[in-house]
Amino acid sequence: MRKRKVSSAVRERLLRSARKAMKNSYAPYSKFHVGAAVLMASGDVFLGCNVENASYGMTNCAERTAIFSAVAEKGATIEVMAVAVINDHGVPCSPCGACRQVIYEFGPNAVVFFQGKKGWTESHITELLPEGFRLQ
Ligand code: THU
Repeated sequence: MRKRKVSSAVRERLLRSARKAMKNSYAPYSKFHVGAAVLMASGDVFLGCNVENASYGMTNCAERTAIFSAVAEKGATIEVMAVAVINDHGVPCSPCGACRQVIYEFGPNAVVFFQGKKGWTESHITELLPEGFRLQ
């Protein structure tokens, strides 16, 4: 695993952006609003929020919204360098399993900032998702 260095200034910027994106969250069912900001190797930052649905299973998490929106805008050559995620309850919230797999697909070396059980945490995606799936 190559641990990538992301400066504290970049981390703070991503967390501020994630907080902004959280304001657009659509979470009438869980009332748990989440925002994500994703830094690409190009320097672009894409934002996402969770978007729920009356058919609960169709909910899209903030992290996946951000990455899918980056693919829609820039194409599949994007490389995720860093992901920041924030929620409006101020509680631990690491990316779910599905989001980890999506982050890994576009950023096998990404770092993820999230509120963990012991406070703000920075993890390499392969710490969160060892043995991520690749189709080859
Ligand atoms: N959620 C996210 O958007 N990201 C996470 O990392 C964890 C969970 C959303 C999904 C759902 O809308 C709500 O939080 C409660 O699970």
